[in-house]
Amino acid sequence: MRPLRSAAGLLALAVLALTACNRDAAPAAEPAAPPAQAAAVDRDEHSYAEPDKVVTEDLALDIALDFDAKTIAGTATYTLQWTDQAATQLVLDTRDLTISKVEGEAAGGQWQPLQYALADADATLGSKLTIETPERNAKVRVTYVTSPDASGLQWLTPEMTEGKQLPFMFSQSQQIHARSWVPLQDTPAIRYTYTAHVTARPDVMVLMSADNDPAAQRDGDYSFKMPQKIPSYLMAIAAGDLVFQEISGRAGVWAEPAMIDRAVAEFADTEKMIEVTEQLYGPYRWERYDLLILPPSFPYGGMENPRLSFITPTVIVGDKSLVSLIAHELAHSWSGNLVTFSSAKHGWLNEGFTSYVENRIVESLYGKEVSDMEYVIARNSLRENIASMPEGTQALAVKPDVALDADDALSAVSYDKGAWFLQFLEQRFGRENFDTFLRGYFDHFAFQSITTEQFLAYAKENLFDKFPDTVTDAEIQEWVYAPGIPGYAPQVMSRNFGIVDSARLAWLGSAQLPPRQITDAWSTQEWLHFLESLPPTLTVEQLAQLDEAYTFTGTDNGEIAMRWYPLAVRSGYTQANEALAEFTTRVGRRKLIMPIYTALVQTEAGLALAKQIFETARPGYHPITTGSVETLINEAKPAPAPAPAETPAADAAAPAPAN
Ligand code: BES
Ligand code: ZN
Repeated sequence: MRPLRSAAGLLALAVLALTACNRDAAPAAEPAAPPAQAAAVDRDEHSYAEPDKVVTEDLALDIALDFDAKTIAGTATYTLQWTDQAATQLVLDTRDLTISKVEGEAAGGQWQPLQYALADADATLGSKLTIETPERNAKVRVTYVTSPDASGLQWLTPEMTEGKQLPFMFSQSQQIHARSWVPLQDTPAIRYTYTAHVTARPDVMVLMSADNDPAAQRDGDYSFKMPQKIPSYLMAIAAGDLVFQEISGRAGVWAEPAMIDRAVAEFADTEKMIEVTEQLYGPYRWERYDLLILPPSFPYGGMENPRLSFITPTVIVGDKSLVSLIAHELAHSWSGNLVTFSSAKHGWLNEGFTSYVENRIVESLYGKEVSDMEYVIARNSLRENIASMPEGTQALAVKPDVALDADDALSAVSYDKGAWFLQFLEQRFGRENFDTFLRGYFDHFAFQSITTEQFLAYAKENLFDKFPDTVTDAEIQEWVYAPGIPGYAPQVMSRNFGIVDSARLAWLGSAQLPPRQITDAWSTQEWLHFLESLPPTLTVEQLAQLDEAYTFTGTDNGEIAMRWYPLAVRSGYTQANEALAEFTTRVGRRKLIMPIYTALVQTEAGLALAKQIFETARPGYHPITTGSVETLINEAKPAPAPAPAETPAADAAAPAPAN
């Protein structure tokens, strides 16, 4: 067996390995496309709303939660601003809603019935609700009830919760699911304030993306106010056995009692994160910033609902190693919630800016090495993903003629190519200039919804023209409108990953595991890099050796699980199957479980196991996750399972979705 090298040798090896794996794809040969037309003609294809005729200024909800029927029922009242004085209709988005009445407030203040038509459902967009408003009422009121299968809600029985005593429900409105629990103009191009009066059984606490009171009494009757204008995808509600503990005067955690202490310890740095972001980009403008810890079926890692980020419990791993998720959701308070994309096609304005800001927060709080590791992990997976994406979806700004699935609209391109572009600008213009520019940008467009072209016009005036000859037009065009990653994109190297690479290469060559004193110091990020850089398949003996040393099978760390189990599946390491099934049944976060299902459905035997897991897990999954898994299983084309030893270096390693 080959002995391990010295630390210096390890480092040299590591640099070599990293250079090899970080090499970019060749720069896109195709010339950059010209920018799309100005904002005015940009239409949100995911909504029936007609913002050029009428916009909602305020929404007042008066609703009741029924945990037995799994429904929300009540009224939504819109205060409208008619921009087209010839308009005669108000068009709203709905999905699976039953509408029982529509009224308009007449000039004298009395409510009168209005005629309306609910169109047949479109599979993607839902049902267009057209209300006849010949008098262009200043207020319109819709009485409705949701379906128990509403795509934007999950209703959990007490057995499906941590405490097992009370039921739980929560919403996930982004991208176009708000319409499944409120009839509304469901496009981020429109912003409005809202109030809500919500009744529920008296033993559950109700929270919204609004002014939650940490001292609120549970009595089944709650009132909320959101005085800042928000887009519809930020409408949010949750109810359950929720208790509060503070982190600072303006930040705290809501969670089930059994989770609260662990959550508060994990997210103790939240106030520091707010302060750092304020220093960089200006004041936090939403008053409180609280976290709501959801059950493990929450289909995302986090959701930036204003004043109350919704957070998966899968990042509570005991060592704060996954708290960049909090940095991310908090960063949206500037990039996304304050300055918002006007449609999902400009998704990078939300997610790319946020991933960049997230990384700056992580660097400030935990140091450059940690932020570098996170960039390397993200960019390795971007490179892997982008290669198999159609060219049209590889551009930051998606062209009008490219169709987008709203649930998948935000790919690794929006997040990681977006952040990369901003890091490129930062390096060219210098950190100080770029920070000043971004701060000005958030201020200039505060509480507005904008397009890529509006950003570019602002950047031209306030950055590109101010420091001429720093970037070329062609470079900007390539970053924003061309596929692939520019060959001159800045490179990030992680020293720590160099050590990981050397250890991995040494183990692959000699079966000698790295010394304990090295791996004992590894954080989650180093383990992720170790697992990700392994060949697509290993022998069962190799996996058993790793498992014995590091106990990957059964890990509580979802980021490790989502890399280890697919490797186990591809390599025929069936010893992991039981724990894999347990993890995939308990957790509903799409990013973590889709790679596992994707690996499974490549073979007949795996597909059978996938179907079995899905059947058991399905009642506990969120509708968004159910939809993704169902499609994957239905479209699977499994190959008969070869003996593990002959498995070709599998193309089975399908890219993971970015969210
Ligand atoms: N806003 C997104 C979640 C989202 C995106 C929901 C698109 C629906 C459609 C959220 O801020 C997010 O990016 N979450 C990531 C977190 C990660 C990148 C740190 C997730 O859920 O994994
Ligand atoms: Zn995000």
